[in-house]
Amino acid sequence: MPATHTGASRVAPTAAAISAAGLRKSYGDKLVLDGIDLRIAEGTVFALLGPNGAGKTTTVEILSTLIAADAGEARVAGCDLAREPDGVRAAIGVTGQFAAVDNLLTAEENMFLMADLHHLGRAEGRRRTAALLRRFDLADAARRSAATFSGGMRRKLDLAMTLVGDPRIIFLDEPTTGLDPRSRRTMWDIIRELVAEDGVTIFLTTQYLEEADQLADRIAVLDRGTLIAEGTAEELKRRIPGGHIQLSFAEPHRFQLAAELFEAAVRDADSRTLRIPSDGSVPTLRAVLDILDGAALEADTLTVHTPDLDDVFLTLTSPADPTTSRSAS
Ligand SMILES: Nc1ncnc2c1ncn2[C@@H]1O[C@H](COP(=O)(O)OP(=O)(O)OP(=O)(O)O)[C@@H](O)[C@H]1O
Ligand SMILES: [Mg+2]
Repeated sequence: MPATHTGASRVAPTAAAISAAGLRKSYGDKLVLDGIDLRIAEGTVFALLGPNGAGKTTTVEILSTLIAADAGEARVAGCDLAREPDGVRAAIGVTGQFAAVDNLLTAEENMFLMADLHHLGRAEGRRRTAALLRRFDLADAARRSAATFSGGMRRKLDLAMTLVGDPRIIFLDEPTTGLDPRSRRTMWDIIRELVAEDGVTIFLTTQYLEEADQLADRIAVLDRGTLIAEGTAEELKRRIPGGHIQLSFAEPHRFQLAAELFEAAVRDADSRTLRIPSDGSVPTLRAVLDILDGAALEADTLTVHTPDLDDVFLTLTSPADPTTSRSAS
């Protein structure tokens, strides 16, 4: 029986749902994970960010007992990964990077299959299937072959299948890759609801910085098998300089005058732009405009750039090596 969210939990509310120390994995002579340490509190969303080939899926596969680490240890839902894998499996759900939906079956049949895998019994399996398909807005499509589903519907069905087992910890490997902006938001709402209402812990991987920003309590950045940064979105953004106000001038003389006014600015003479370091706040913007006004100068364009997670990602991680990434074959 999978553990339920209610009643006596074996782990205190502040306990780690997932903790890992020194996880290592190599394929042949290629080192894929080089000593990963993690601590993820119960009932929180953790996002693992990283470029292609960084080792995100490998981390998920290890923590969900699909593959074994070469070294290191981890506890998931209070169970030791190596010694109590069945305990781990009973507590988790995994939605992999590539949809596990069987196209030859209808949505409902896919769900029943999961219910069977979890030994739920026919009535309970049907009850949960109906409830989950309703929750994911798939009730009308329950009897349709999954082959006719759009990418977004398939993703939702995939997550619904994961929830049949009522997991306390859910691994989502790139849950919204390939989804349009509306479907992505729907998926985000579903994930938030799972945490807020059911108190589950979410471990997600993503390439979308905004997704981590929107959903995650804590974010770790993985690059070539090493965690190179960890913290809240705000903490990570604070580590990255790069907020600035950019002014550009069509006319060389005015550019020259402005450059003299803003000594701290980075100048690009070719494009006649100035980058004035700034936290992006209204008072600093006003100060810049006041200085321009005082000199009776007008910029042709003005843009305010506050550091976002894209800056964090691009600053901290190395460019992906296209030859090392797994493809959706
Ligand atoms: N079964 C395997 N055999 C050999 N190499 C592997 C295997 N699985 C993964 N790798 C290698 O391990 C590295 C990390 O792969 P992984 O799939 O974990 O990356 P990822 O961060 O999930 O990338 P993506 O963003 O493309 O999904 C890659 O270099 C990949 O080629
Ligand atoms: Mg992956």
